[in-house]
Amino acid sequence: MNISSQSLPKHVAVIMDGNGRWAKKHFFPRTSGHKAAIKNVRSAIEFAVEKNIEILTLFAFGRENWQRPKQEVATLMELFSEVLVKEIPMMQENNVKLCVVGDRSRLASDILANILQAEHATKLNTGLILNVAIDYSGQWEIVLATKKLLKAIISNQCDVEQLSEECFEKFLIDSIQTPVDLLIRTSGELRISNFMIWQLSYAELYFCQKYWPDFTKKDFQRALDDYQLRKRRFGKTDEQVKGET
Ligand code: IPE
Ligand code: IPE
Ligand code: MG
Repeated sequence: MNISSQSLPKHVAVIMDGNGRWAKKHFFPRTSGHKAAIKNVRSAIEFAVEKNIEILTLFAFGRENWQRPKQEVATLMELFSEVLVKEIPMMQENNVKLCVVGDRSRLASDILANILQAEHATKLNTGLILNVAIDYSGQWEIVLATKKLLKAIISNQCDVEQLSEECFEKFLIDSIQTPVDLLIRTSGELRISNFMIWQLSYAELYFCQKYWPDFTKKDFQRALDDYQLRKRRFGKTDEQVKGET
């Protein structure tokens, strides 16, 4: 293998941004942008399956997004609820295992029921692990992990002196413990917006100008092509990395 060529990323994360601006560009209300986004979520999942990517984590709704207008939040919640169940056959066909990650305590009971139904229906699937982040933030996840860790310390299941990064990681949410290899963000924004801040520590970042409702499989392929040209050194020198391949 050439030093500059990476194999495919194991874990791809996507900040699906730009729905509102896409709608504005077309003189539609913001909510039409969220509706238009769904077909691209489907094609991104199918693409990840075609490419044998192991984990795909999609940022659908951040904790900070509760601050949006009530009507927009309500539409988003309805869409999540509807789409998760509607897409069960697609997930089954593609052997996709769904995990919704985030704080479930503030979600309405009907949405919660649909999440559980979709997760249950796909739980034995062995292909792509699809994480959908709803009411999620990276800081929230770290606080959650810290609470679990403190409980483990109090009950003598964990020794403070032995605590390491590897040990802490085990207290993060199960299905997103694997480090992210490639982060894609659409819409031209150059920030992480409180996504998986722990797991992104050594991720390759790919920013794309297109709004999410315009992001196609071809654009996803471009991101993978770009990723494969990156040199991932993880702190080492080129020569050291070359010696390992
Ligand atoms: C991303 O698109 C979807 C969510 C955050 C739920 P936006 O709604 O943020 O779109 P812009 O950034 O306003 O264009
Ligand atoms: C981040 O997008 C969250 C999602 C895409 C779900 P935002 O559009 O909310 O992020 P900021 O506020 O522009 O950073
Ligand atoms: Mg946005």
